[in-house]
Amino acid sequence: MWKIARRGQRTTSRADVLPSPNIWYYPDTYELENRAQDVEGDIWRVLEAECPWQGKDVLDVGCGDGFHLPRFAEAGRSVIGVEPHEPLVRRAESRVTGLSSVRVLRGSAQSIPVPDASVDVVHARTAYFFGPGCEPGLREADRVLRPGGALAIVDLDVSSEPYGRWMRADLPDYDPAAVDAFFDGQGFRCRRVTAKWRFADAESLAAVLRIEFSPEVADRAIEDVLRDNGSRRRHAAGFTVPVGYRVLVRDKPTGLVLPGHSSSSSSSVSISPSTA
Ligand SMILES: C[S@@+](CC[C@H](N)C(=O)[O-])C[C@H]1O[C@@H](n2cnc3c(N)ncnc32)[C@H](O)[C@@H]1O
Repeated sequence: MWKIARRGQRTTSRADVLPSPNIWYYPDTYELENRAQDVEGDIWRVLEAECPWQGKDVLDVGCGDGFHLPRFAEAGRSVIGVEPHEPLVRRAESRVTGLSSVRVLRGSAQSIPVPDASVDVVHARTAYFFGPGCEPGLREADRVLRPGGALAIVDLDVSSEPYGRWMRADLPDYDPAAVDAFFDGQGFRCRRVTAKWRFADAESLAAVLRIEFSPEVADRAIEDVLRDNGSRRRHAAGFTVPVGYRVLVRDKPTGLVLPGHSSSSSSSVSISPSTA
């Protein structure tokens, strides 16, 4: 079960890569999932408010096959996708062919192949940053961010209903409060958002839920959604599922903070890089 593998932070033989069976083995179904996800733009609105990227350099780490890269490229100055799984690197490259401001690089969250202080926004969506154990990636994001830049992590909210309930059924040991406490302790603010997933037909809905959950939980989830949508048949509005997300954001300080002074205290003294 892929969720257990990735959230349990087990690694493959490539030491720092977390298995993602959904997109690795079913990339076409994962494309359906990405297209269904956030159809009303709720996650994007939170991201735009928390870490605007207009005219900025954006890096999407664990970019998969690059689904989100064109969206960042609409307003960003430049966009880099970083992905460790070679077949996905190739798919991402093919997706962004013709977008001159976008590059795709082979790398991982723990080893991002760009210089220090070279990007303004690092975005990671349902990739690598799942809780305790992701500290090497947090340090690496800090390294590549310019002062004043932001790391934005988008992940599922395992405490939400109904999607979180299905996740918890497959992840009995996952502790949402401990994960929240971890990111809080790392200095992140958290915005919870309920996005709407919408599928044109029941077949697409079922295919996506079957790559996300064990067969038993997927059966239950499909039944729940069909019941909540009131019909097994195709209807004009499609089939919708509310899915809870957490958008976690941490800003990189703009200046050096002198020893003995807290960056959040009113008495802190900060020195901008140009005067330090
Ligand atoms: C569930 S997919 C999400 C892909 C993409 N962010 C999206 O939203 O479409 C998780 C991705 O993280 C990648 N991944 C696995 N280990 C990683 C690591 N150590 N650093 C960065 N990405 C990693 C996987 O190969 C996979 O492409």
